[in-house]
Amino acid sequence: MIIESLNLSNFRNYDYLDLALAPGVNLFYGDNAQGKTNILESLFVAATTKSHRGSKDKEMIKIGAEDAHIKLMVKKRNLQNRIDMHLKRSKHKGIAINGVPIKRSADLFGIINLVFFSPEDLDIIKDGPSARRRFLDMELSQIDKIYLRDLSDFNKLLQSRNKLLKDMAFKQTPEDEITLDVLTAQLAEAGEKVIAGREHFAGDLKGITKDLHAKISGGREDLEIQYVANVKKGTYVQVLKDDRARDLRFCLTNSGPHKDDLEFQINGADARKYGSQGQQRTIALSLKLAEIELVKSVIHDDPVLLLDDVLSELDSNRQKFLLDNVGSIQTLVTCTGLDEFIEERLKINKIFYVKDGTVLSKN
Ligand SMILES: Nc1ncnc2c1ncn2[C@@H]1O[C@H](COP(=O)(O)OP(=O)(O)O)[C@@H](O)[C@H]1O
Ligand SMILES: [Mg+2]
Repeated sequence: MIIESLNLSNFRNYDYLDLALAPGVNLFYGDNAQGKTNILESLFVAATTKSHRGSKDKEMIKIGAEDAHIKLMVKKRNLQNRIDMHLKRSKHKGIAINGVPIKRSADLFGIINLVFFSPEDLDIIKDGPSARRRFLDMELSQIDKIYLRDLSDFNKLLQSRNKLLKDMAFKQTPEDEITLDVLTAQLAEAGEKVIAGREHFAGDLKGITKDLHAKISGGREDLEIQYVANVKKGTYVQVLKDDRARDLRFCLTNSGPHKDDLEFQINGADARKYGSQGQQRTIALSLKLAEIELVKSVIHDDPVLLLDDVLSELDSNRQKFLLDNVGSIQTLVTCTGLDEFIEERLKINKIFYVKDGTVLSKN
């Protein structure tokens, strides 16, 4: 898959940007705060409808402007698709594929597949569990449309149930009791699907990351990934029933997939507690490379890889492993300087210089 062009207006610090991208490696360099990440972010928004930084639509609109546009052309196995996105300050964004507006953001599913690698991903092991759940959900949602729907159902039901629990702290009517029973049953059903999806995905991830990690560490380290479900598969409805009084007291749902985690062990020891920074980074790198493999096997095509400032964070051994594994995938790399090592190790197809919301093509 190849993103052929990107066109931005009033997005972040860009008034207007028109970029023609090359297959292979596209390198963006420039000082900090010039707009490199903003370009990658706009692609991520176009692919997933959401910012990888978790920003709201109105925050991505250029300060002082009313609305923003992201337009791009993507080619997948000779099939061209045009995506138009219209970000608004106080309304939902408008999205069109090939000029036809779509009603639900899930309809965008599968048009663009991205693997985004940023320095924050390197902290995934030592961060809190929510970062690891976010990783699971982001990756799974990209390759499994049913999971995307189940997860969104689960999140909506969880919100509704928590809101009801809060309301019931003040006043409990018989109707509330019935609504709580209904929401509990629905939440249990959606939650079971989320647990099953994560368990399956973690199983796929386990084998691939094990191989990659062994290669990066020169065979010295054995990596085991374990999905730690807060609630065991098949038991959620019972757990929610048992928790009912406690949930009412705390005004929130205490148990469920929203408390899940992933655990990593290197040679049998918990990498979060005992792993060195280098080992933790190797795991993060294995996870990202595994993600490329998984996406490839599902879509039977290459995803587009976005490497945001990540090379300077890796030592030369890990850099080399990453770049060797990129192969012929279209890759957008950002960095602050035109480092020699990148030019040595990577065939760069296009170089762009980014300064203050403008992009200059250097070759
Ligand atoms: N909504 C916005 N409107 C205008 N400028 C913005 C907006 N959001 C971010 N910026 C600017 O974008 C720049 C940061 O861009 P970024 O792509 O993160 O930089 P980098 O080149 O370091 O990756 C900062 O100068 C910031 O002030
Ligand atoms: Mg940046």
